[in-house]
Amino acid sequence: MRNPLGGCLKVTEAGMTRRCWISIVVLCIFLGSIATEGMAAVEREKLLTDPGVYATFAIFKMEEDWWKLDKAVRASTSESVKAVFAKHSDRVITDTYLVRGISEKADFMVRLHATDLIHNQNFLLDLMSSPLGKYLRNLQTYKGITKKPTYAALFPEDLKAALKAPAEPGSKPYAIVIPVRKDAAWWNTEVEGRIQMLREHAEASVPYLRTVKRKLYHTTGLDNLDFITYFETAHLEDFNNLVLALQRVKEYRYTVHTGNPILVGTIRPLEDILEVLAR
Ligand code: HEM
Repeated sequence: MRNPLGGCLKVTEAGMTRRCWISIVVLCIFLGSIATEGMAAVEREKLLTDPGVYATFAIFKMEEDWWKLDKAVRASTSESVKAVFAKHSDRVITDTYLVRGISEKADFMVRLHATDLIHNQNFLLDLMSSPLGKYLRNLQTYKGITKKPTYAALFPEDLKAALKAPAEPGSKPYAIVIPVRKDAAWWNTEVEGRIQMLREHAEASVPYLRTVKRKLYHTTGLDNLDFITYFETAHLEDFNNLVLALQRVKEYRYTVHTGNPILVGTIRPLEDILEVLAR
């Protein structure tokens, strides 16, 4: 008779066969890895949806000297970069984006989320002092905090329901980051007026919910900005039309700064980015 442990019922005088022990060890490792992966996924999901999470967007360009190094030397720095990501993975969740080839301004961007800004800082300190990091120019570092929606809970029920429309399935390879600052008149507008204007903003956006995923970060007082807006899409034309639609609503008149820069990149695993930097 066989069982899932592969022959454990055939017991030796010593109690168990060697095969049986190996099977148990393999099974434990397998179950352990499922549990760890599951926990990591939960943690990631939590950090990406919870309020009170600190995000840092660090935008980098390689120094000219980097490209003059031998390919093999550049490739040899990859492991130390991967080690930095691994070292901080229990505190910081990371997303990497390739910007090179889309913009001349930057080569790549890293988005970090943690329950404390200092964890993001420690990650970046290690990255920037790694062998590859010494060739990095840190062009911009945006930081923000996630919050519960300020206005959406006060929208009419039909709009609240419309905002829950699921995004279309499939990958969304493009990421767009747009920093936003509003003027003093906005912050001094009565709350009813702001709800009404954000309602118009949301109504204009609803047609794009299926193809554009969004995330909002608050940054007032942490930077010379009020918001970092982050989007993912497979359809850049939709995104273009969405922004045009939003520029026509009254709320936009209070925006004194959008972009500068607007950052567009493709969502890529770290390995892909390191491979491009070693080409
Ligand atoms: C699918 C597209 C979009 C949808 C469904 C959407 C929806 C919303 C909603 C419901 C809010 C209110 C959040 C709250 O209650 O605190 C909001 C806020 C905001 N959105 Fe959008 N939005 C979209 C795209 C955009 C784009 C493309 C931009 C800028 C380029 C943008 C900029 C902002 C900003 C800056 C805020 C914060 C406003 C404030 O609190 O004063 N949104 N958005």
